[in-house]
Amino acid sequence: MSRPLLIAPSVLAADFGHLADEVRAVERAGADWIHVDIMDGRFVPEISFGPAVVRAIKRAATRPLNVHLMVVEPERSLQAYAEAGADHLLVQAEPGSTVHLHRVLSQVRELGKRPGVVIDPATPLAWIEHVLHLVDIVLVMTVNPGFGGQKFLPEMLPKIASLRALCEERGLNPHIEVDGGQDPATVASVVQAGADVIVAGTAIFGKADYAEAVDQIRRNGTKQGRY
Ligand code: DX5
Ligand code: ZN
Repeated sequence: MSRPLLIAPSVLAADFGHLADEVRAVERAGADWIHVDIMDGRFVPEISFGPAVVRAIKRAATRPLNVHLMVVEPERSLQAYAEAGADHLLVQAEPGSTVHLHRVLSQVRELGKRPGVVIDPATPLAWIEHVLHLVDIVLVMTVNPGFGGQKFLPEMLPKIASLRALCEERGLNPHIEVDGGQDPATVASVVQAGADVIVAGTAIFGKADYAEAVDQIRRNGTKQGRY
């Protein structure tokens, strides 16, 4: 069950004036996936961008686009993001986003994309236990969604560990991705708990040397022995 640790830079922290260059630069720096945050101003207060910008990111990228939908009623826009080039479509589990989580995840699969489910810090694992078999990725938010640059919530560590144990008990092996406040100092603990994909915005795009930033996160996470 061991698999390599993956690093997914979040373009929310990139320079939007040079988005294509930024995507190419983090890929050269060793990014495994490109994390793309869609914020609609309703599920979360901020608005980021929509399918047209995802299409532009796709033109610059060679790595999979890991698209995180922080939106109300993702079912209304799944197809647009799929057509824009999303490879993974991750939907929030909370009823404030979708009221029919099981159906939405099935729709992602029908669109030929990899489904993922996202849980906010206050959302219990019980909310996703009956959809776990439908997903390739479970994203555990390690900050409250909506903004980059927030502080990692260490109280999410037992949740990540329980999720990994639940998956093992069920014979399932989704990627466990963590998002929010991740940096070289936090990565060891989340990997130890069971995460295998690290999203990082500020900790990569906020640094002058992206390759060094990616390497440092990968090094600190890989020391854990699990990977
Ligand atoms: C937060 C977003 C994150 C964000 C992470 O709502 O889902 O993907 O970009 O940014 P950092 O790594 O700066 O916390
Ligand atoms: Zn995100």
